[in-house]
Amino acid sequence: MNPAVSTPNKQILLQVRDLRVRYQVNDSTGFWPKTRQLEAVKGIGFDLYEGETLGIVGESGCGKSSLAKALIGLIPSTSSQLHWLDHDLTKTAIGRWGSVRRDVQMVFQDPLSSLDPRLNVLKIVSEPLRTHEPGLTADQLKAAVIETLNKVGLEESVLYRYPHEMSGGQCQRIGIARAIILRPKVILCDEPVSALDVSIQAQIIQLLRQLQREMNLTLVFISHDLAVVKHISHRVMVMYLGKMMELGPKDTLFKQPAHPYTQALLDAVPKADPRNERHKTLSLLSGDIPSPLNPPSGCVFHTRCTRADAQCADQTPLAQTSADGHVCACWHPLVRA
Ligand SMILES: Nc1ncnc2c1ncn2[C@@H]1O[C@H](COP(=O)(O)OP(=O)(O)OP(=O)(O)O)[C@@H](O)[C@H]1O
Ligand code: SF4
Ligand SMILES: [Mg+2]
Repeated sequence: MNPAVSTPNKQILLQVRDLRVRYQVNDSTGFWPKTRQLEAVKGIGFDLYEGETLGIVGESGCGKSSLAKALIGLIPSTSSQLHWLDHDLTKTAIGRWGSVRRDVQMVFQDPLSSLDPRLNVLKIVSEPLRTHEPGLTADQLKAAVIETLNKVGLEESVLYRYPHEMSGGQCQRIGIARAIILRPKVILCDEPVSALDVSIQAQIIQLLRQLQREMNLTLVFISHDLAVVKHISHRVMVMYLGKMMELGPKDTLFKQPAHPYTQALLDAVPKADPRNERHKTLSLLSGDIPSPLNPPSGCVFHTRCTRADAQCADQTPLAQTSADGHVCACWHPLVRA
């Protein structure tokens, strides 16, 4: 069974259950090269509520981007349920996601490479409008772009510039302008600030929060930076090797994590006292992440978990949802007060 965090009186925008993403990869480790299946997302299920920011964290390669791309239909996936707003997309072919694309947009990690270098700002930002409202005149498109640029803190003077003529922060503002020009309900942000300087990161996060307030946006915010996720999120999902380990309100998850992996991630964050930092990093998050081509049996975290026992190595823990809606997939969760 897939869990859903219950938050009364809030409208659910997305319901997803048992979402799976599989890639065909070439395996050249044996004598004969062969094709194998890599399951990057393994049965993830959750609800997304109107107006919230859901942070998604986990180490590199745990499937964050694959999950986001599958949610918006950019890559194939399977699921037992995938409902966006009023649309049932559970078994919908990728080419037929047009109905939801207007309401659900994405902002990508690398601002420069996510913008077409051959197009100027006017063309880049107006592109979704031209697709969804083909009847608009050139003047109407230009006016809409200028209004949107102003919303993201850019002036009309950048209208005819190309991506390479702008800074990383400006390019990310262009990416956000392109994402909001259709007035979507949801934006999936895949590491939107990790390629930027720290000072620019803060500005972009501030901008996203401001847009969220002004436009009643719902955000999915992917990052491997726990401090950023803590700052911006209402709820946080922790992923490991394609699976959801824990999902809960930001405050309880950061103050009293239930899953040993979440605790290990938190303890691995650099602390002011370097003696503590060195000790905790080595003792709690040691060992390499296993290959997703050969994931461990039972609990996928058992090869790195200090609490693992024979049951963990043998049986996959089911996600349990507590009365306050906190979800944890662990045989021996940490005790929460
Ligand atoms: N197009 C693809 N073909 C084959 N394997 C892929 C493809 N894209 C991703 N993968 C693999 O799927 C797994 C999950 O990758 P994904 O990019 O979703 O992780 P991530 O959590 O976003 O990582 P990062 O934090 O580095 O961005 C990884 O093992 C990755 O190598
Ligand atoms: S199920 Fe076992 S190995 Fe997995 S996180 Fe819980 S205690 Fe650790
Ligand atoms: Mg990624």
